[in-house]
Amino acid sequence: MNLKQYCCFLKDEGLNKIQVSNKKNSRDYPWEMYTLKELLRATNNFHQDNKIGEGGFGSVYFGRTSKSVQIAVKRLKTMTAKAEMEFAVEVEVLGRVRHQNLLGLRGFYAGGDERLIVYDYMPNHSLLTHLHGPLAKECQLDWPRRMSIAIGAAEGLAYLHHESTPHIIHRDIKASNVLLDPEFQAKVADFGFAKLVPDGVTHLTTKVKGTLGYLAPEYAMWGKVSESCDVYSFGILLLEIISAKKPIEKFPGGVKRDIVQWVTPYVNKGLFNNIADPKLKGKFDLEQLKNVTTIALRCTDSSADKRPSMKEVVDWLKNGVGSTWGEENIPTLSIKNGDEGNDKDDKLKNN
Ligand SMILES: Nc1ncnc2c1ncn2[C@@H]1O[C@H](COP(=O)(O)OP(=O)(O)OP(=O)(O)O)[C@@H](O)[C@H]1O
Ligand SMILES: [Mg+2]
Repeated sequence: MNLKQYCCFLKDEGLNKIQVSNKKNSRDYPWEMYTLKELLRATNNFHQDNKIGEGGFGSVYFGRTSKSVQIAVKRLKTMTAKAEMEFAVEVEVLGRVRHQNLLGLRGFYAGGDERLIVYDYMPNHSLLTHLHGPLAKECQLDWPRRMSIAIGAAEGLAYLHHESTPHIIHRDIKASNVLLDPEFQAKVADFGFAKLVPDGVTHLTTKVKGTLGYLAPEYAMWGKVSESCDVYSFGILLLEIISAKKPIEKFPGGVKRDIVQWVTPYVNKGLFNNIADPKLKGKFDLEQLKNVTTIALRCTDSSADKRPSMKEVVDWLKNGVGSTWGEENIPTLSIKNGDEGNDKDDKLKNN
């Protein structure tokens, strides 16, 4: 089948079979049908005012369907013809992944030059918006919300690594890819996406620049991808959630400091209070903060094989944030010294 001949998932033969087998319960359908006309209408012809933001793969637009459902439409940059079929197959796989902490695909459109991916619109935006963006001042993320977002995002990621078929490595865990639903529950977005895009220069370059602070050293230096790269990025995200510090801070004169380098002296001196986001105004649970910091530092171990699995991280977080943090559940902490951190940063910069 020529990709250009179909306009959305459900026209694919294999997927029609899924649709038939699910016919008894329309809620089980993995995707909804969209026509280009409907998506153009929903987004006011991809009007600038509807644009939510722009990432490495394209732009995201807010839309409202004729049934008044709010959607987000990702309009992908065009790609080579060779990559298209592979892309469709991969998107089809990702479209089947369903978990309460993952932002599932609602549908897909491919026709002419357009590649559109449709998601549920997340009205509470992303962690990035709340931690560093326009909503940071309002401080809607109190401590319990932050903890539940951390656990939710960990569960979504653990599902991708351990339960989904095939297992999926996210590769781009960061604050803008953790969206928040109306109840402020975490929905991890763009899973498996990095893999979809052919080794086209554009995104790779942007990504390495844009999200350097989240990249595991072995990924940044040698492009070595594994589940533990996601664990590293998740550790960075955890530190970001509790401190609202950016993964990398830039100082005048081009000096950079990553969040692990920033947090380590506080941990060494036991000054955990200094780690919490000042916007919380002291309203946080110190024990939980210690536990989450400890877990984050285990996740960001510079050796990939010493990092925990996401399953362990979920268990630790649940124990560390609940009241039942027993001795046996406390991960041991090997704190990196400052030199090691500097070393790593240099290598990243040389990459
Ligand atoms: N379903 C959605 N609901 C609300 N906002 C969304 C949705 N999907 C994406 N966004 C927001 O739109 C913006 C652009 O998203 P996009 O995924 O294109 O870029 P990104 O997350 O910054 O980077 P990357 O391309 O690496 O994922 C981000 O701020 C993102 O949080
Ligand atoms: Mg994204």
